Amino acid sequence: MQEETINILGVETSCDETAAAVVADGRIVKSAVVASQAKLHEKYGGVVPEIASRAHIEKIYPVIKEAMVQAKVAEDDVDAIAVANQPGLTIALVVGVTAAKTLSFAWGKPLIAINHLHAHLQSAIMSEDDVEPPAAALIVSGGHTSLYDYRSPLEPRLLGSTIDDAAGEAFDKVATILKLPYPGGPSIEKAAADGDPAAIEFPRSMLGRESLDFSFSGIKTAVLYHCRGQDMKGENKVDSMSRQQIADIAASFQAAVVDVLVKKTQRAANKIGAKTVLLGGGVAANSTLRSALKQMCDSGTPPKKLLVAPKQYCTDNAVMVASLAYYKYKAGLFADLTLEPKATG
Ligand code: KG4
Ligand code: ZN
Repeated sequence: MQEETINILGVETSCDETAAAVVADGRIVKSAVVASQAKLHEKYGGVVPEIASRAHIEKIYPVIKEAMVQAKVAEDDVDAIAVANQPGLTIALVVGVTAAKTLSFAWGKPLIAINHLHAHLQSAIMSEDDVEPPAAALIVSGGHTSLYDYRSPLEPRLLGSTIDDAAGEAFDKVATILKLPYPGGPSIEKAAADGDPAAIEFPRSMLGRESLDFSFSGIKTAVLYHCRGQDMKGENKVDSMSRQQIADIAASFQAAVVDVLVKKTQRAANKIGAKTVLLGGGVAANSTLRSALKQMCDSGTPPKKLLVAPKQYCTDNAVMVASLAYYKYKAGLFADLTLEPKATG
């Protein structure tokens, strides 16, 4: 007898994307809707929580409705409602959590709580039939930089994370210093394409021989000193720099960040005897990072399989939420209407 299809409606509002999606059986994407707030935050050079929260409130209903329409499903076809409830900006998360709880109550469908970072991991494995464990999994986003020992979708074990800035945050801040457009990650990548990655030797913070934690605040400061002088008294030289000089700074910065991310992932892989490496999160859209990790995996003995989230599912989306929720559904791991948003996770 063929098993029944399980349709899950996923909701995501942890930062500056209002997203909803319907995914069947954890991998068939029936709809994926994302309303990005990038334009609203552009002039501030980063996400402003109050603005994010208000925009989520405006968009949440139309986005969920659009996801249902595009998927051609009605409430009766939905088996569960999943929502990212941690980690993220509490006043942003609360919008998605409230919407999901309301639908769960009104439609009489189970509610599933999803960890946003575990969902990013899910984007990397969603279309894979078998992921050979153990896997060293790197999540690099605007708010987080974390390494996991991954053996199953439900129990990734945290091995290390950033002690200060996240990798994406460093990209965004350095883009602001270089006066490149927001969001910074794609702008730095574009500028770096014409630059020399060996032009400037920016610091690579490894935090000791064993550490699987990250630190990116030092490199951000190094770029700032490079542009304004060690005493910070000089004016920002960026305005008088040539395009080539900006490109060289962007390429050298990107090379240093990628270098640290790859070396730490290698360390984690060695420590757990990884057969597979997973990569997800907004910064995973970066081509230099993708190819450097690929090279690391190919040159290992034995080589490791690299699974990377497709570019459209690197940045925040609800497909990854609905996909991961399928495994919680199968395991009967449901939340109730007391579910709260949590900043950490
Ligand atoms: O995962 P995400 O959408 O949001 C969080 O959960 O934080 O990640 C957004 C981050 C931003 O910092 C953005 O600058 C960065 O991902 N990003 C990139 C690229 N595309 C997005 N960083 C480097 N290269 C890119 N191509
Ligand atoms: Zn994210």
